[in-house]
Amino acid sequence: MEYSVKSGTPEKQHSGCLVVGVYSGNRLSEAAQQLDEATGGAIKQVLRRGDHSGRLGQTLLLHNLPNAPSERVLLVGCGKDKEFNEARYRDATAAAVGTLKNTGAVEVTSYLTELEVRGRDILWKLRHAVDVTEAALYRFDRLKSKNDNGDNGRRGPKRMVLAVPKRSDLQPGEQAIREALAIASGARFAKDLGNLPPNICTPTYLAEQAVALAQQYGLASTVLDEPQMRDLGMGALLAVARGSHQPPKLIAVEYRGAAETDAPIVLVGKGVTFDTGGISIKPAANMDEMKYDMCGAAAVLGAVKVAAELKLPLNVVAVVPATENMPGGQATRPGDIVTSMSGQTIEILNTDAEGRLILCDALTYAGRYKPAVVIDVATLTGACVVALGSPASGLLANNDQLARELLNAGKYAWDRAWQLPLWDDYQKQIDGTFADVANVGSGREAGTIIGACFLSRFARDYKWAHLDIAGTAWRGGKDKGATGRPVPLLAQYLIDRARKGAAPAE
Ligand code: BES
Ligand code: MN
Ligand code: ZN
Repeated sequence: MEYSVKSGTPEKQHSGCLVVGVYSGNRLSEAAQQLDEATGGAIKQVLRRGDHSGRLGQTLLLHNLPNAPSERVLLVGCGKDKEFNEARYRDATAAAVGTLKNTGAVEVTSYLTELEVRGRDILWKLRHAVDVTEAALYRFDRLKSKNDNGDNGRRGPKRMVLAVPKRSDLQPGEQAIREALAIASGARFAKDLGNLPPNICTPTYLAEQAVALAQQYGLASTVLDEPQMRDLGMGALLAVARGSHQPPKLIAVEYRGAAETDAPIVLVGKGVTFDTGGISIKPAANMDEMKYDMCGAAAVLGAVKVAAELKLPLNVVAVVPATENMPGGQATRPGDIVTSMSGQTIEILNTDAEGRLILCDALTYAGRYKPAVVIDVATLTGACVVALGSPASGLLANNDQLARELLNAGKYAWDRAWQLPLWDDYQKQIDGTFADVANVGSGREAGTIIGACFLSRFARDYKWAHLDIAGTAWRGGKDKGATGRPVPLLAQYLIDRARKGAAPAE
């Protein structure tokens, strides 16, 4: 979709479709009110007849209103005006797009961006209008021999004009659209990789895509193969790869947007392209979803894409340990002890706790960049799905400021995280019996925290945060698919950091 910004009242617009909000209780938004006055009360009449109640997400398409130069008007329910908030703004926008994509309107003009959202300015509203629209239009059907609808698949609007109240909003509005489109393209990149089946999206394929991304933006990239990892002493990562016929890869993509001397932000993403559990094998139900176990990898690559697209004045590195976790004859056994790149020995008590094994070596490797901060992103624990469900990613950090910055970025980007404690009290559960550390605790308690405790032992030398995205990276059920999270959170963190860097020191 193409986006532009415009200021001006609705009754004067020549558009394929005007989109205006209606609250419940027959309360019109300002744009709906203006349109109603210009059309001799046509909108109020529709409401009086009971054809639209203003319920959140309800849509009604009207044609040829008297004296209105636009062909169509789409009424979008916003619920009670007093309860209207960020989530409802996004829901109303998504509902509008859902209806618009089945119309013949080529250009649409949305006045939903002028709805009052408490505490949010026009920039936030434009950012999220684009974010929600791009997400609603996303399809992954490249592996179907024909599309589901039996039509050419590309009906629906091509251009969206976003209305702003003041002329002075136009220029910042353009900037909001630019940022939103960059974030959407990073999220799309991550979704596509996530949705690909595990026989296509192998570690080798991930590495190829990372290199292609690097080439597209002129970035440096490195792909280490198994012998190179052995030379570096990555015994934990290699222990996971043993059971698979697919060769593992350690991928790095470096975006340099700031001085050479500027310490980089290193993003580490779990890239298990399929997780069977290994010898500690998983049950059969929904095991197909373990193709999404590389969504952390996809997200950190997507975030670097956003940084490159926006030419942010930062250095950002994505590091991706990529492997399958399979139960082959060479596979690691429960009880095996391996030596990680850090020198710490690890007792692998459960081969299904493989994410932390590949990440611990990647975290040690990340230290070589002398990072300003390291953020790892991983579909690490089923326990995180139990604790937080799909609204929030789990966040754990060894630095409170970093944690706060990530929480705030997540709030702004509506890609929220929730912090869990990383207290020493939890650490003793993974003290090893026969090695330095065990890869799982003794019971089922605090699984997400235990996973993070393990990682923290390999992240002592720098400021570090861990995002557990097991509940947020993909949706199961009817509309199954990767979400692209937490690309928006990471991208916002980078944008905020870039702004801070640009401001004079306080
Ligand atoms: N990839 C899984 C985590 C996962 C499971 C994410 C289900 C989303 C849904 C991870 O590798 C794993 O298997 N973790 C184990 C850890 C346990 C053995 C300590 C888990 O959560 O059961
Ligand atoms: Mn696992
Ligand atoms: Zn896993």
